[in-house]
Amino acid sequence: MPKVAVDGDIVAHNELVTDVWRMEVEARPIAREGEPGQFVQLQIPQGGFTLRRPVGIAEIDRQKGTVAFIYRVVGKGTKALSKLPVGSQINVLGPLGHGFSLQAKHPLLVGGGMGLSPLLCYAEHSQGKASVLMGGRCERELFWQKIYAPNVQDVFCTTDDGSCGTKGFTTTLLPELLRQGDYDLVIACGPEIMMQGIARIAHEHGVPCQVSLEKRMGCGLGACLSCSIDTTRGERKKVCKDGPVFWAEEVFDLK
Ligand SMILES: Cc1cc2nc3c(=O)[nH]c(=O)nc-3n(C[C@H](O)[C@H](O)[C@H](O)COP(=O)(O)OP(=O)(O)OC[C@H]3O[C@@H](n4cnc5c(N)ncnc54)[C@H](O)[C@@H]3O)c2cc1C
Ligand code: FES
Repeated sequence: MPKVAVDGDIVAHNELVTDVWRMEVEARPIAREGEPGQFVQLQIPQGGFTLRRPVGIAEIDRQKGTVAFIYRVVGKGTKALSKLPVGSQINVLGPLGHGFSLQAKHPLLVGGGMGLSPLLCYAEHSQGKASVLMGGRCERELFWQKIYAPNVQDVFCTTDDGSCGTKGFTTTLLPELLRQGDYDLVIACGPEIMMQGIARIAHEHGVPCQVSLEKRMGCGLGACLSCSIDTTRGERKKVCKDGPVFWAEEVFDLK
């Protein structure tokens, strides 16, 4: 798949909730080729950032030629990103890596935190085929509900404090959903500990599972080795090039 570096116009940029931003960029070649689960490397124009920052593709509008990213401000790079005004330009390198399987009839998306951003792209792409299970500490963190609702069959929620949906974690509710539903694929994105738990439960229920890994990245192109991992078969893989999406049994010990 061709990768390009595009100077894209920022056509929308707004804060969805405190420190979580949505940026929409006109980048026609990336919008044309991008698939759910792939990511881009953003070059932050001011502030002397030599390394690009990786973000998942949250939305693709092939007609408008735009891609959108939803990111949390966590450090200097994402802080500088949040200051960029609509109308300015940003260099976007992508689409990078391998995306999720698009073959499932009824996939269940399971996400926590910013992991819900790349899953949104899958939900939009699969046009009502998917359901989503989202987990957060409290209702405020599940602002994603209304963003997902038009694109999925069901929205299931868990919160640590019980302020929304089932009290507990996504792993609390998942066994019941897999027993009752007709899901043929589980796709997880979020904290690694959550994905391990989700993958194990999916395995116990005989449902295939894909996970999207996050590692610190330098180049994003398979050249610097900063994102290397060992697979369960003892192979060395690069998250940026071989992933970020992997079959769960490739990267987690499920026994
Ligand atoms: C494939 C992929 C997709 C991602 N998608 C999203 C997304 O959709 N939304 C979102 O909010 N965040 C996403 N992240 C995490 C995001 O890249 C980091 O939060 C961001 O790079 C932090 O940059 P910073 O300068 O603000 O933080 P700092 O901590 O100041 O960054 C310092 C350095 O570490 C790197 N770095 C820091 N944290 C991470 C991290 N978690 N992963 C990779 N590199 C990191 C930065 O690129 C930078 O080189 C993704 C990460 C990866 C690997
Ligand atoms: S980030 Fe350079 S090899 Fe993956």
